[in-house]
Amino acid sequence: MSTVTAALSGSFAIGGDLSVHRLGYGAMRITGRGIWGEPADPAEALRTLKRLPELGVTFIDTADSYGPDVSEELIAEALGPDYPKELVVATKGGLTRTGPDRWIPVGRPEYLIQQAHKSLRNLELERIDLWQLHRIDPKVPRDEQFDAIRQLIKEGIIRHAGLSEVSVEEIKAAQKFFPVATVQNRYNLTDRGSEAVLDYCESQKIGFIPWYPLAAGALTQPGGILDTLAKKHGASTSQIALAWTLKRSPVMLPIPGTSRVKHLEENVAAAGVTLSDEEFAALDKAGKAAA
Ligand SMILES: NC(=O)c1ccc[n+]([C@@H]2O[C@H](COP(=O)([O-])OP(=O)(O)OC[C@H]3O[C@@H](n4cnc5c(N)ncnc54)[C@H](OP(=O)(O)O)[C@@H]3O)[C@@H](O)[C@H]2O)c1
Repeated sequence: MSTVTAALSGSFAIGGDLSVHRLGYGAMRITGRGIWGEPADPAEALRTLKRLPELGVTFIDTADSYGPDVSEELIAEALGPDYPKELVVATKGGLTRTGPDRWIPVGRPEYLIQQAHKSLRNLELERIDLWQLHRIDPKVPRDEQFDAIRQLIKEGIIRHAGLSEVSVEEIKAAQKFFPVATVQNRYNLTDRGSEAVLDYCESQKIGFIPWYPLAAGALTQPGGILDTLAKKHGASTSQIALAWTLKRSPVMLPIPGTSRVKHLEENVAAAGVTLSDEEFAALDKAGKAAA
């Protein structure tokens, strides 16, 4: 039996020159409860990370604040320092942690620069391929935060830069300082608040990274549209939700997160699910109605 790999999801060039398979992996879940401390099963977390290259996953998303540090360090332990050549590890900075489930933005330029250096060290890399500002800190002028990112690119600490949880207006403001390579906003079948941002990203060839991509809320009920399509395709409802996300836009780079090999394999197999235009439209309509 041939294994479906993430290659089937197609490719996207981040920043125009960094090619990844569109279906990626989110490394937030390989931490403890409340995204704090060590994972409950570190050996399974390491097995999950080591399985990524075998399944053709070439794009990993993490952040300094996941753990904090735990996610980045586990990635380095499993896959570094001689990372597979085609692998892109993207990280983020700009959120501090004061305890489980607590996330506080700190956008002072010196802090952002310090954290990018710390991520380099945690990941055992010489340069970060993609570094994303986790949140624009409302307490610090945004231009100062964008200017710090410009400086990180200029000094070669990071290659490309992105933003997270931003509006079209904020992306345009950042583009005055550096080329915005990616935008990471919450988005899934029933969470469509970022449609305008996605359309803008598509027009600018900016990679759009939807987080929480597996959620589909009430649509997963037995007899509902996801359940019906899942049965028709011999797939799970999560796979149908991911397949819809991938078909929505060529700049879409979903990063489903898991700490288990079994779930990773299931999520990657979604790359092999092809929805018809009619199925896509029906899901789109149901998702908007349930939003
Ligand atoms: N930019 C931001 O502000 C931001 C915020 C949140 C997340 N993110 C990023 O986005 C990534 C994805 O977001 P997310 O982890 O919140 O949401 P998600 O990928 O939609 O869902 C993850 C949850 O679903 C479970 N799961 C995964 N695959 C499954 C499967 N095949 N069957 C059943 N359950 C499954 C996971 O548990 P198991 O571990 O048990 O599989 C986990 O509880 C994160 O890893 C992170 O990199 C970014």
